[in-house]
Amino acid sequence: MNALGGIGGLPGGSGADYPSAARVYDVLLGGSANFEVDREMAGRMLAAEPQANRFARANRSFLRRAVQGLLDEGIDQFIDLGSGLPTVGNVHEIVHATNPDGRVVYVDVDPVAVGYSRYLLAGVDGAAVVQADIRDVGSILEAPEIRRLIDFSRPVGVLAVAVLHFVEDAPAAILDRFRVATAPGSYLVVSHLTTPAQMSRETVGVVQRYRESTGSPLTFRTHDQVVDLFAGWDLLPPGVVPVDEWWPDPADLEESADLGPVPIWAGMGRLMPSARA
Ligand SMILES: C[S@@+](CC[C@H](N)C(=O)[O-])C[C@H]1O[C@@H](n2cnc3c(N)ncnc32)[C@H](O)[C@@H]1O
Repeated sequence: MNALGGIGGLPGGSGADYPSAARVYDVLLGGSANFEVDREMAGRMLAAEPQANRFARANRSFLRRAVQGLLDEGIDQFIDLGSGLPTVGNVHEIVHATNPDGRVVYVDVDPVAVGYSRYLLAGVDGAAVVQADIRDVGSILEAPEIRRLIDFSRPVGVLAVAVLHFVEDAPAAILDRFRVATAPGSYLVVSHLTTPAQMSRETVGVVQRYRESTGSPLTFRTHDQVVDLFAGWDLLPPGVVPVDEWWPDPADLEESADLGPVPIWAGMGRLMPSARA
């Protein structure tokens, strides 16, 4: 039984004809909110790069550690850009486990991811989803769910995890709009695919195949380009590093031992009062 089968009434035509970024990632994470085309695509990726699901898990683990770290700093409201299918380690569950009054607004462009998120969030206080392209920052900031749940006079955690490599042009301009909209003390969390030069031949092949099959434009960025995404934010230690090396979880390190680096950069920045322009 496919988890998506229970929803009914998904937006028309958004189903099983083509693999989507959100659902292929869900397959790699071991989720069940995906279709046969997505599983076939993930299978081809795993045949070419057997570590693809380790990379997906490492990214998801980073997201969990970053959100937990922000909760520990007292952040209680989050905007999750490119949130995907909330099947394995949902941000609102992490937040509500620590702070039942915490607020989370998910944003994704994929109608299936959004439909499934709405289904899961029905009756959940303090969490909502907005269907929007993250390049359309104005419509996100004006969305009723954002206006209802996010108080921009207080610090916010802005999550842009494994999404900016789907944005070809000017991702920094998107983040800058959020920087200007948020209060001092807010945080920015980013993870992003590395460049082919830093990937194994297998991973390059798999990424290319993925790009061809899903039609998703994928833009690789160097370490320095990912550092530049934090312009206006104070980049916090350890800086931009491979996702599994960002304040690693000992259990993850054990899993990764001798398997090589994960080809995804990760970092966190904080909006200092002096940085607000
Ligand atoms: C690999 S998933 C990442 C999910 C989650 N952030 C994580 O890291 O676990 C990427 C998500 O970004 C979404 N996405 C891609 N381009 C987008 C855009 N321009 N606007 C909003 N969402 C986008 C995809 O639909 C997908 O759900």
